[in-house]
This record gives sequence, structure tokens and C-alpha cells, in this order.
Amino acid sequence: MIAVPETFVRNTVGREGQPGAAWLTELPGVVDELLERWECLPDGGVTHGGVGLIVPVLRRPQGTAAVLKVSYPHPGNVHAPDAFAVWGGQGAVLLYERDDDRFAMLLERARPQTLAQTGNEDSIIRVAGRLNRRLAVPAPPGLPRLRDRAGQWEEELLRDARELAHELPARVLDAALETVRELGPVQPDTVIHGDLHAGNILRADREPWLAVDPKGYAGDPAYDGGTLLKSRALAFLEADDLTKAVHRTLDGFANAAELDRERVRRWAQLHAVQAAFHGRRHGFRVARGGQRLDWIIQFADGLAELLT
Ligand SMILES: Nc1ncnc2c1ncn2[C@@H]1O[C@H](COP(=O)(O)OP(=O)(O)O)[C@@H](O)[C@H]1O
Ligand SMILES: [Mg+2]
Repeated sequence: MIAVPETFVRNTVGREGQPGAAWLTELPGVVDELLERWECLPDGGVTHGGVGLIVPVLRRPQGTAAVLKVSYPHPGNVHAPDAFAVWGGQGAVLLYERDDDRFAMLLERARPQTLAQTGNEDSIIRVAGRLNRRLAVPAPPGLPRLRDRAGQWEEELLRDARELAHELPARVLDAALETVRELGPVQPDTVIHGDLHAGNILRADREPWLAVDPKGYAGDPAYDGGTLLKSRALAFLEADDLTKAVHRTLDGFANAAELDRERVRRWAQLHAVQAAFHGRRHGFRVARGGQRLDWIIQFADGLAELLT
């Protein structure tokens, strides 16, 4: 039986409580069952992300390198296999097998290096932008439509602005509301990765870089420009000139993704405002409270204003 990494146990129980602990108890048995059914042998150390356990395997009889991913059964993890299936390996790892009841997939194995580890900001943005364009294929009916969430986003913005103590200027809030009202409800049926950040882009051989860990939405391809930009926040902190760094990222992403820069900016602005509110209400995975959280929230406020 595989050993589930300690940090993964701690994170899962910390986040999910008793249901998380119960799921973890079953997990080694689930992995064994899937390895047998999909004719795989473990091949190297088990790793994990925030929500998924990753078991490197070899597929019998050819010995093809693959990974078994079992995710925590959360609604946000339902559509990853659908997205992989549509992409068919174009810009993302191949999907070999799926067991939706188990939230499990057998995936093509990429190399261990993530795009985040390359440390070159311009190339991170360029690679992510190009992938964004390649992944923007027509969406099948089953994927959740982001346009159906626009109403909920608007309600949340209005409620957060009312209930939370914040110093966001009215024009920043109004711009976010305008984006939700204007761009939100009219999004096309295009596949969106949904969590496009440099840690979810892996070095590979079949293509230089392949995406993993999609949410699998349908919507505006410019949406994930905001996801990416938000994820670069820590890199912006190291920049001498924050304004310049943010604009360079917008330009680079819009260019590589062949998208309208203004549209990318507007989504990114909305993401920043949502993050500023989310931080106040729930904290972030990297900081649940204290000075560090205050400081990140202030940074999100600054980013939102800069993008307005
Ligand atoms: N197909 C793959 N090939 C090789 N490594 C992978 C693959 N998928 C995931 N990993 C490794 O596991 C980590 C977490 O995977 P990810 O799918 O992002 O999980 P999570 O949903 O928990 O974030 C990745 O950063 C990577 O190191
Ligand atoms: Mg991930």
C-alpha cells in the first residue's frame, strides 16, 4: 500500500475536518484498487498538490510512464477529466483513464519541473499565454458555463462591499461591477482551464510545456489572464516598479494568448477585487490571519486599484 504524505494528511484534515480524515482512511485502498484495475505499478515517490494525491506509475504491459491522480471529492474537481478529454493532449497531459465516482484519473506523466520554477517572468507569461490560446477550443455541453455565475459574482461583490470593512475606492468597485455586468453574462462556449498558474504547467517531452489541474469551465478565454496575473503577485513584490511589472504581464499575456489587452485587464481587475474581499472574509492558504494576511490584503487592494 502507498504511504500518504504527512503534509497532504495535515492539509486535508485542516481544510475538510472529519470528512477529510474519513476520505484519507480509504485513500490507500482506493489507490490499490485503481492500480489493479488500470494495470499499473507504482513507480517512485508519491507527491501531492493542494487537493490531489499524485502517484507516479508505469502502465503495463508497455511500461508507459503515467500518474494516478485522486482528488478530494469536491464539486470544484468534477470537470477536470472532461477538460482533458476535450483537449486530447493538445497543450495538456493526455487522459488515459477516469473514474469519476472516485475523482480519479490516469494521466500522461510530465516531468517534475513546473513553469513556476524557471524563474523567468517574461517566459512564464509567454508560455502561459500561448497555452491559454491552445486550450481555448469549443466547449462541449457538459462543462459549467462561467456566464451562469455572473449573477452570483455580482451579488457577492455587492454583499462583500456592504458587509466587509474595506477601503476600496468606489471607482474600483464600480469597475469590477461593470465587468461582471458587461462581460459576465455574454461569454462564449470556449474551454477555460480555470486555474492557469505556473505551478499547473509542467515541463514535458511531447510538447515543451503541458497544462495539468484544470477546473474545466466554458467562458471568455481572457478570464484566465486574471487567474494568471493574480498568481504572479509574489513575483510583482520583487519588482522595482510594480506598475510597470503589472502592465508588462498584461501585454505579454494578451500578446501570447492573442487576446484583447483591455479585456484581459478588466477580468484581472475583477479577480483582484474578488481576492481582496476573499482575503478579508476567509484569509488565504498562505496566510489565515495576522500581519501577513493584512499585508497581502493591502497588496490585493493596491493591485485592484492599479488595474482599474
Ligand atoms: N501529469 C503529471 N505528471 C507529472 N507530475 C504531475 C502530473 N500531474 C501532477 N503532477 C505533480 O503533482 C503536483 C500537483 O498536481 P496538481 O494536478 O496540480 O494537483 P492539485 O489539484 O492538488 O493542485 C504538480 O505540481 C506536479 O508536481
Ligand atoms: Mg495544482
